Amino acid sequence: MTRKRIAISGPSITDLEVAYVAEAARTAWFQNANLFQDRFEKAFADYIGVGHAISLPSCTAGLHLSLAAMGVGPGDEVIVPEITWIATAAPVVYLGATPVFADVDPESWCLSAESFERAITPRTKAVIPVDLYGNLPDMAAIRAIAERRGIRVIEDSAEAIGSSQHGRRAGSFGETGTFSFHGSKTMTTGEGGMVVTDDPALYARMQVLRDHGRRPGDVAFFNSEVAYKYKMTAMQAAMGIAQLERLPELVTAKRRRFRYYRDALANVPYLTVNSEGPDTFNTYWMVTVIWDGDVGLDKAEVMAALDARGIDTRPFFHPLSSLPAFADSPDRARAQKANTVSYDLSPRGINLPCGDGVEEAEIAYVAEQLRDVLERMPKRRRA
Ligand SMILES: Cc1ncc(COP(=O)(O)O)c(C=O)c1O
Repeated sequence: MTRKRIAISGPSITDLEVAYVAEAARTAWFQNANLFQDRFEKAFADYIGVGHAISLPSCTAGLHLSLAAMGVGPGDEVIVPEITWIATAAPVVYLGATPVFADVDPESWCLSAESFERAITPRTKAVIPVDLYGNLPDMAAIRAIAERRGIRVIEDSAEAIGSSQHGRRAGSFGETGTFSFHGSKTMTTGEGGMVVTDDPALYARMQVLRDHGRRPGDVAFFNSEVAYKYKMTAMQAAMGIAQLERLPELVTAKRRRFRYYRDALANVPYLTVNSEGPDTFNTYWMVTVIWDGDVGLDKAEVMAALDARGIDTRPFFHPLSSLPAFADSPDRARAQKANTVSYDLSPRGINLPCGDGVEEAEIAYVAEQLRDVLERMPKRRRA
């Protein structure tokens, strides 16, 4: 019998999403063109527990707007964690500012508060803590340092819808918070994103920046400044409304899949799975394993072996300062030396299949194959 390939992630789409999207396609035009976006934004802001939300084509757009609204530009530095998707740092570069790479914490795999503080210079304007794979960094510590040093905070919650810490939702810890609804995410609109804030001034500024610089009350087509065009369609918003209604169910399923993996791998002593810190609720967007250093295998080798067995995986993020994209970064040499935790973890980790439809039997199979691969492959002990 040939096994179906096990995909890394995929959405849960029901008749509810299809019905709402069909309704938007039929009705959301002319004077109704923004009704679904307005409903989605209101429901999303209420869910996160903040005053305002702006629906966008991507989370990257939300990060770009946040930085632009805070006035980040040439000469400024913005601190980002080494371990994240490039989208956290790319908008810093769009604005002519410099990303500075800080190390992650060995337990949470998220931005280390100590490393953040060490990376601060007189040019530091903002920090972007990332809620990696659904987990959160020590937000109280990061916020305290930022406040003391006069640094703006943008929370990149692309991967953490539904997570929380000390009873507060992910995305509500910064002056702005950003979310992704890419097809791989816990809730999706195909592509899409949201930026949230409690600050009326930032909200007003981001509304102008995302609409080609049009200000309320402007003479029609007589723009005040050059800005951006970042809007979500009504069809995407309709799908988002349905997914948000189903979010408790989607989060429960994510946590269930993580539990199955944790239990199936509990007897493999050299593997560590995602952590859930004190007073943190982790929605485990990506179930991730890190193997001990003395296993001596590289993630690319393990991924290729699992691929041959019909299992899709993804690499634990490469440190940003190691990417060719940042070859000319002024912070590269310092970061590569300083960020030892990121450089130690990254070669030893992969994400496992954990999207909709991957349930107990597949998880048992993946766990068994992973163990087999790690035990059979010739081990090269590290120097
Ligand atoms: C941590 C992080 N930040 C930002 C993004 C960007 O999201 P989008 O693709 O919606 O722009 C992602 C998406 O994968 C992400 O994982």
